[in-house]
Amino acid sequence: MRPFLAKEFVHLYGSGDREVRSFFAPGRANLIGEHIDYNGGLVMPAAVTLGITAACRLRSDYLIRLRSSDDPLAVEIDLDRPIEPDPARGWGNYPAGVLRELLLQGVDLRGIDILFTTTLPQGAGLSSSAAMEVLTAFSFLALAEAPTSDLRAIALLCQKAENQFVGVNCGIMDQFAVAFGKEDCALLLDCESQDYHYVPVALGEHALIIMNTSRPRRLADSKYNERRTECNAVLRLLGTDAPRNGLVHAPWSDVLSHVSDPVLRRRARHVISEQVRVEQAARVLVTGDLAAFGRLLTESHTSLRDDYEVTGPHLDAIVSAALQAPGCLGARMTGAGFGGCAIALVEQAEIPDFTVSVRSGYLAATGLEPAFYVTHAADGAHETTGEG
Ligand code: GLA
Repeated sequence: MRPFLAKEFVHLYGSGDREVRSFFAPGRANLIGEHIDYNGGLVMPAAVTLGITAACRLRSDYLIRLRSSDDPLAVEIDLDRPIEPDPARGWGNYPAGVLRELLLQGVDLRGIDILFTTTLPQGAGLSSSAAMEVLTAFSFLALAEAPTSDLRAIALLCQKAENQFVGVNCGIMDQFAVAFGKEDCALLLDCESQDYHYVPVALGEHALIIMNTSRPRRLADSKYNERRTECNAVLRLLGTDAPRNGLVHAPWSDVLSHVSDPVLRRRARHVISEQVRVEQAARVLVTGDLAAFGRLLTESHTSLRDDYEVTGPHLDAIVSAALQAPGCLGARMTGAGFGGCAIALVEQAEIPDFTVSVRSGYLAATGLEPAFYVTHAADGAHETTGEG
């Protein structure tokens, strides 16, 4: 555990006999396959090196105390009382929802003091919430001496907590990516069957740059749920022709014959075409055709902008600045959209010029200062006790 975290932990909670253990869960960048996890689609996220660390120590009672080195809020949860959502609890609702699910599943939880610290920008579309959820589940299971090896069960439990406790009707992609991430690999996940395999992200002379618009995701949750409702409306209109395994599998000709509303048609066109792009992206990543991979990223953004309408002016401005900057093979928004982050595939030698150029283009268009993270595909949630 990093020395400063151990020191801050003792400063907050005092020294004690029990061991302070530490755990890490990464954020994720979705390479391609956006807004189709809840439509039975294929997605290709990668865990990133940025993430959240938790230092935790068992207590002798049934009180959970949560603090963060990045926020003054102090949260207390009594395991002997019902755990309900509470707006005053702020970020503490993510771990609280997971705690409730763990208890419902019969995990024998004891009191724990926990201190989080993060390198992940909050609300930037890199799944800080899924990272917090998976981290809570992973570390609390470990401290309860329950198995942590069933990552699928952990991901599903955390998705349920987010759906039912936080009230965001998210798909399975983020929690899965945070749990199953693997160094230098993306996860090709079939969200219907939950089958997955790893695709090596061998970018050679190129790198994926995460570009933060510095525009917090606005309306993301309500618009997100609205898109899900629209996709369900398309399925209803398809009637008995609706594919059982998700809208991504609907033939476009069926949409044309059953759906006359132009907005719903566009939503369906994004969903169906994004699935094809993910299949193509998996193929070209294996053959190393990075130019084709870059084109698919940009096509995905265009579809999310024009058909699914989840980008907004800030994401559009940063992607457009990236596409005009030196060394860029392609760029797109990542995550739910409506602000947050985009990714770009960039020639490594051009990264300094690329960032200067994107910064000035984006600043001129929006007046906001962007941030850049050069990261790579990383491992999923794991224990870090004993690591320096
Ligand atoms: C959010 C959700 C995911 C997924 C993406 C969009 O990150 O949590 O389940 O739907 O948006 O691809």
